[in-house]
Amino acid sequence: MPKAETIWIIGASDGIGAALAREWAGRGARLVLSARSVERLEELTASLGPDHVAVPLDVSDRKTLIDAAQKISEIGPLDRVVHLAAIYDPGKIAELSPETAAKIVSVNLTGSFHIAQIAPPLLRDGGQLALCGSIAGYIGLPQGQIYSATKAGVISLAESLRAELAGIIDVRLICPGFVDTRLTQRNDFSMPAMVTPETAARAIIDGLNTRHFEVHFPRRLTYALKLLSALPYWAALPLTHRLTR
Ligand SMILES: NC(=O)c1ccc[n+]([C@@H]2O[C@H](COP(=O)([O-])OP(=O)(O)OC[C@H]3O[C@@H](n4cnc5c(N)ncnc54)[C@H](OP(=O)(O)O)[C@@H]3O)[C@@H](O)[C@H]2O)c1
Repeated sequence: MPKAETIWIIGASDGIGAALAREWAGRGARLVLSARSVERLEELTASLGPDHVAVPLDVSDRKTLIDAAQKISEIGPLDRVVHLAAIYDPGKIAELSPETAAKIVSVNLTGSFHIAQIAPPLLRDGGQLALCGSIAGYIGLPQGQIYSATKAGVISLAESLRAELAGIIDVRLICPGFVDTRLTQRNDFSMPAMVTPETAARAIIDGLNTRHFEVHFPRRLTYALKLLSALPYWAALPLTHRLTR
């Protein structure tokens, strides 16, 4: 029988991360689950069985990440790290408070940078590190505000890391379309091709088990947006402007 994989999921207390934890636990993985909400994380960990541990942290607070890394290094080398933690506050750029904007950058982008430095030494040789971008990072869309800019940054960070760690760590990028979680439940616009967190979790696991750098889903939406972002600006920007109506 193959050895159970040890997987660290950051952003595991809710949404896609919690669904991923349930799916991977069902497939026999041993999990380390992280997020800020201690109670929710411990409830989820206990519900999955005795082999899993909760390690609370805040990705925007480097000290909590260093303490978590110390605990995790005692568990042994990891097979995979999947970093999903992010926050979002929908609305137009002009309406966003500077304090909220700074927090979103600090969690989504600086948090991914911290994980990009802290996770590799915890992985076995050839282990996998997945960062989470979004279709929102492909091209600036109306209502995307600073969240989209952070996701464009995470896509770029994952590309750089993939090149820098080639042959040492298997760096991956996850770009979901719309997934029905508390994050998207705050949107007041219609979201095409929405999937459940369970569908997203299965798509992520299947994608990470292939050799492709980017795991993106659902394809009917991601390919349309990839096409839009590949157009010259003179063609793409009038189309994105029309989405504001
Ligand atoms: N839902 C979508 O349609 C969609 C689409 C594209 C990309 N994504 C991306 O997919 C990932 C998961 O999103 P989701 O929809 O599952 O969101 P979610 O339901 O809000 O879950 C986000 C997770 O991140 C954790 N988190 C937030 N801030 C954190 C911090 N500072 N430190 C540690 N953990 C933190 C949250 O737990 P605590 O609050 O307990 O910390 C929670 O476990 C995100 O990167 C998101 O940008 C989502």
